[in-house]
Amino acid sequence: MLESPSSGVFICVEGIDGSGKTTHSRLLVGYLCSLGFDAVYTTEPTRYSLPGRRLRESFFYPERLPVEEEFKLFLEDRIIHLRDEVIPMLKDGKIVVTDRYYFSSVAYQGARGLDWNFILEENLKVSIVPNIVLLLDLPIDEAIARISAEREEGVNTFEKKENLQKVSEIYFKLAEKFPDLIHVMNVNKSIQEVEDDLQKFIVEYLEKR
Ligand code: TMP
Repeated sequence: MLESPSSGVFICVEGIDGSGKTTHSRLLVGYLCSLGFDAVYTTEPTRYSLPGRRLRESFFYPERLPVEEEFKLFLEDRIIHLRDEVIPMLKDGKIVVTDRYYFSSVAYQGARGLDWNFILEENLKVSIVPNIVLLLDLPIDEAIARISAEREEGVNTFEKKENLQKVSEIYFKLAEKFPDLIHVMNVNKSIQEVEDDLQKFIVEYLEKR
């Protein structure tokens, strides 16, 4: 495992597709900046690394890449994300909010049949553990409805209902395994209510540190 820089705060936002991770990660960063914190949003897969770009292209292929290849690309992208963004920013004392991290690999590539203990172990060899994980919890049907309402092209191969069901189950197993790290947040409410909950939760967390 890489050594975590001691100065910054590393917050990770996770959840199934359609759960509002991107919206809420960005809102949280905006709020923390408005309080005077130096907060930054990042996301995985990245949009700039070769493996990240390859993955993003693959989202709309009719067939998914073989799961081993997908796993490897996410891991390579994560190493670059950590090296080029997360670790330098943490060293600078920033609050880094990442929209997905290795918990996504455990949940999504695990849902495709890869052993999730293996995924976790391989990731822990090259990653740092975040300070806190917010797992956005939304019923699958609601998530699918939100995705369909937002996008003309509808759900992609990552987002099919049976797949999201498995992904969600693994997320909950992870939350049971790491109760001090992963905090489940009910997001089956309005954006404003979720925003308030997340702000309150994170401010309390930062005050207690
Ligand atoms: P997004 O919804 O945050 O844009 O993420 C794109 C997709 O990538 C999403 O369906 C989940 C998937 N994903 C994995 O399968 N494994 C991973 O490790 C990560 C970071 C994302």
